[in-house]
Amino acid sequence: MKISIIGLGFVGLSLAVTNAMNGVKTIGVDNNKTKINNLKKCKTDFFEPNLDKNLREVVKSKLISFTNNVKEAINESDITFLTVGTPTKKTGGIELEFIKIDSHEILNALKSKKKHHLLVVKSTLPPLTTKTIILPIFENLIKSNKMDVVVNPEFLREGFAIKDLLEPHLIVIGSYNKKSGDLLEKYYKKFYKNIPEIIRTDLATAELIKYSNNAFLATKISFINSIANLCQTISGADVNTIAYAIGKDPRIGSLFLKAGPGFGGSCLPKDLTGLIDYSKTVPNSSKLFEAVKMINDLQPKRIIDLMRKMNAYASGNSISILGLAFKKDTDDIREAISIKIVKNLLKAGMKVTVNDPMAMGNFEKIFQNKIIYSKSTSSCLKKSDCCIILTEWDVYKKLNQNAFKKYMKTPKVIDARRILSPQKFSKIDFKAIGLGND
Ligand code: UDX
Repeated sequence: MKISIIGLGFVGLSLAVTNAMNGVKTIGVDNNKTKINNLKKCKTDFFEPNLDKNLREVVKSKLISFTNNVKEAINESDITFLTVGTPTKKTGGIELEFIKIDSHEILNALKSKKKHHLLVVKSTLPPLTTKTIILPIFENLIKSNKMDVVVNPEFLREGFAIKDLLEPHLIVIGSYNKKSGDLLEKYYKKFYKNIPEIIRTDLATAELIKYSNNAFLATKISFINSIANLCQTISGADVNTIAYAIGKDPRIGSLFLKAGPGFGGSCLPKDLTGLIDYSKTVPNSSKLFEAVKMINDLQPKRIIDLMRKMNAYASGNSISILGLAFKKDTDDIREAISIKIVKNLLKAGMKVTVNDPMAMGNFEKIFQNKIIYSKSTSSCLKKSDCCIILTEWDVYKKLNQNAFKKYMKTPKVIDARRILSPQKFSKIDFKAIGLGND
């Protein structure tokens, strides 16, 4: 069996590499020629732990190949995974153009193919998109049993892509007939070592499982951030202790209860917005998802509030930002809260110096020479009036109050990720998200 994967972004490339690692002959397809040329030389355009190393190995063992040619890839493979992007449109709603363009290209390629082909939609889509937009494109081929389309959402996390793909916690297969779902199930059973529960559904339920999964994670974060904001008004209260306590209740669970500056990344904000947009099309829809988004949109302002409390929010002040990536162990700054905070500080006339172990290159593409990029934590802190920790990188967890005292003009520190122990920072002006102030 040979597979092809169309759309070599974060999900597509990680999926291509892990399929090849499982011994499946894999063809990676993308319309970006530079990307394909680079991938042939084992060069990736984003960081993901172990991806480069594994890519080199599967290229060497000839289990993976790359091409711009959809027709060639379709003709040479039995199953195609569609992993093209479905970003949020500037005007609102989800951009389905790439899905449509690629579906038409696949249709053209399939016209000359004799053998049956399975198209597996992995891109995250609003409910009913596969039924109303993708299936009509392939209607004639489906009717004549030359192909089938199934929905198979992906739940991988950045920073854990390889592990999450090799050992998924569940597999969801949405199909309109038993035969096509069985085909994909057979593929998973043949090539994956540890098969989790496989949930079989119709197309729309599979699409909605993905949206619901990310919306629920987002809800947990906005919930704990709301509690954190309450804690900040109650002397001595600490959101971390509350999260730990309620997390002990097995009905709640301890994960995704870490208060912080708000969630970012390429998925949670996008999928939540997609669900909100979709909900608006149905009568009497819940306002829950809008509330979750609103809480997240307002969360960076809580950091500004803390700055104000410390008298650090003033034009002309120098502010150090430690951490730019939307979470640790990635260079990804998509929807990162750091972007919102830095824009706010610059607008208010402050001088901003930033540090991040990986994401500074990406940040520079947005802010260019408007801010200062420091290669080390100490140079970032130098002569600064206030420091905000925005990403939970391990290197920042080792900081002690002497480091802040030594380098900063006035050692005022805001821990927006709760990575430092407040008791160890009693000799400097220290505030943290979700920590009651006196
Ligand atoms: C997410 C989903 O977890 C994954 O299942 C889906 O396939 C893609 O989207 P990812 O974007 O990699 O994965 O990031 P995730 O680890 O979920 O974190 C998202 C954001 O929430 C980050 O900004 C993170 O810092 C924040 N977060 C997470 C919190 O603020 N508190 C938490 O307790 C957990």
